[in-house]
Amino acid sequence: MSERKHFYITTPIYYPSDNLHIGHAYTTVAADCIARFKRMQGYDVFYLTGTDEHGQKIEKAALAKGKQPQVYVDEIVANIKSLWDTMLITHDDFIRTTEKRHEEVVQRIFQKVYDQGDIFLSKYEGWYCTPCETFFTERQLVDGNCPDCGRAVELLQEESYFFNMGKYAPRLLEHIEQHPEFIQPESRRNEIVNFIKSGLEDLCVSRTTFSWGVPVPFNNKHVVYVWFDALINYLSAIGYLQDEEKFNKYWPADVHLMAKDIIRFHAIIWPTMLMALDLPLPKTVFAHGWIMLEGGKMSKSKGNVVDPRTLVSKYGVDAVRYYLVKELSFGQDGMYSEEMLVTRINSDLANDLGNLISRTAAMVSRYFEGIIPEPGKASSLDEELIKTAQTAYQEATGKLEQLDFSNYILAVMKLVARANKYIDETEPWRLAKDEANRSRLGTVLYNLVEAIRIAVILLAPTMPTLTARVNAQLPVFIDPEQLTWDMAGKWGLTEPSRKVAKGPVLFPRIDLKTLEEGSAGEQNSQIAEEKQVKEDELITIEDFARLDIRVAQVIDCHKMEKADKLLVLKLKVGDEERTVVSGIAKAYKPEELIGKKVVYLANLKPTKIRGTLSQGMILAASSEGDQELEVLMINKGIPSGSRVK
Ligand code: ME8
Ligand code: MG
Repeated sequence: MSERKHFYITTPIYYPSDNLHIGHAYTTVAADCIARFKRMQGYDVFYLTGTDEHGQKIEKAALAKGKQPQVYVDEIVANIKSLWDTMLITHDDFIRTTEKRHEEVVQRIFQKVYDQGDIFLSKYEGWYCTPCETFFTERQLVDGNCPDCGRAVELLQEESYFFNMGKYAPRLLEHIEQHPEFIQPESRRNEIVNFIKSGLEDLCVSRTTFSWGVPVPFNNKHVVYVWFDALINYLSAIGYLQDEEKFNKYWPADVHLMAKDIIRFHAIIWPTMLMALDLPLPKTVFAHGWIMLEGGKMSKSKGNVVDPRTLVSKYGVDAVRYYLVKELSFGQDGMYSEEMLVTRINSDLANDLGNLISRTAAMVSRYFEGIIPEPGKASSLDEELIKTAQTAYQEATGKLEQLDFSNYILAVMKLVARANKYIDETEPWRLAKDEANRSRLGTVLYNLVEAIRIAVILLAPTMPTLTARVNAQLPVFIDPEQLTWDMAGKWGLTEPSRKVAKGPVLFPRIDLKTLEEGSAGEQNSQIAEEKQVKEDELITIEDFARLDIRVAQVIDCHKMEKADKLLVLKLKVGDEERTVVSGIAKAYKPEELIGKKVVYLANLKPTKIRGTLSQGMILAASSEGDQELEVLMINKGIPSGSRVK
């Protein structure tokens, strides 16, 4: 038996009635952030997501497309799985309610609850909202429509099985009272308590008017009500009635995460089902707010959805995840717009975090030949930075434990801001002017590197590719894949004497103007469709940013011996000198190039050409067959070393 503590977290299992949107990505990314955080803390984590594939809503959607329900959902589920791959979701399992391992458990549970008398046959008469898959009584309707989504409801009259949920209401109320952490946030708890107190009616748990569901084991005219079926996924996925050891390891769940639309199912129906099964209740049911668009809640049926895939391909997975975790204050509804997303990326990631890292790496290069220096004795200013880092660690930990995502990010970004300020206060460029300050300069740069190391660890659950991308430039980790959370709680873990490397911009700034052009173009659906098809051939702005293209000044140039096409150029790129061998001798004489500023790809792998090491390449345009060739030049006063982007 392992000694590790276990942690079980779930998202809702989403309806594969259509492709998912950023509302679903929101819950799934948030849960992933917690799962990664807990793994970094050393927990044995089980993170579950999946799809809720039965019911009238799915059957109708499939029929509308002329497809068999199973064929229809298979396609969408494949899309959902690939979406989670794209978003770097680290679920440990993906449960589909059409899987045998799940259906069997549903039938066995239905049978057991029936056998003990908590499920019984009767007649249902009342109102049903298919989009919500929910029953309502006459008095619950609002203007004759669904009280949740406002759409039309259908009058149902059918023989049904019922679950006598009300029997467990007193026990449930008592549990809620004794476990304030059970339903969160608190506003939701009050809503649930009031609802239970207003009286729980027996719940209709089977249907006879369609067949896309799990058959009731002892009466196959009936299929199990889709919510009764779906909620059981949290048990079937961890081996209930099938793998006792696994089940005992993870149950009860630590967190069921969802939005507030489905809190009642999770805080009333689900716990009463568990009581009927004599199982302990989940520790926390947490309902976050909705992502709203200008026209209201984003939803598939309103057709106003935002596809997370498009956002990831435009802005990169780290940036989109950061936005979701940071921007939307978790308990409340949050407005979404692409403009807000871009503004957030530019200010927090490009400006604050990205600049901190690139400035620090550049100063280590410039002043210490790229070698991370040893720290000396800490001044009181240094102590303050160290203290800010410790506070960031403690606050980030506490906020994540409370699922307070935006304040977790805020806690980390306070450290980033403090470190940027520390640069302004210590003025390393002035220290660098006097050899007597060399040890102080080393201390300042070491402290900056440490602050970055800690911030990056704390951001790792949100931005999964950040640690490796930072480490490639600023090697603060021995192994960026083996980070533990407590490494962020200790100051001084970076080993001096490791070497920084030039690399791509971590978070390229996004021009808000290109955004507007983009959305205007998308008005035309045909263009949008063509774009979709070509998407695979497109690269993202981050792909482009991997090319380190610079302005370089030609400081020397000569023909390569015994090669009539090749010139050897000596380039000045900022403070550095590079040698490039280029096949342009037919178009240019060396003296035509000396002194000119050319466009230079700096991070091309160096290669030997006729015995000379060529570092990078210069860019040139050429007509077909190289009849004519022109080297790209920069003619205004932009200094060498500047980025071309
Ligand atoms: O309800 N803002 O599935 P579903 C925030 N199958 N979160 C949103 C959102 C938005 N605009 N839109 C969707 C179901 N979500 C059932 C669940 S569980 C046993 C069965 C997220 O596809 C949020 O987590 O309608 C919400 O609770 C869930 O998707 C609803 O997903
Ligand atoms: Mg829904």
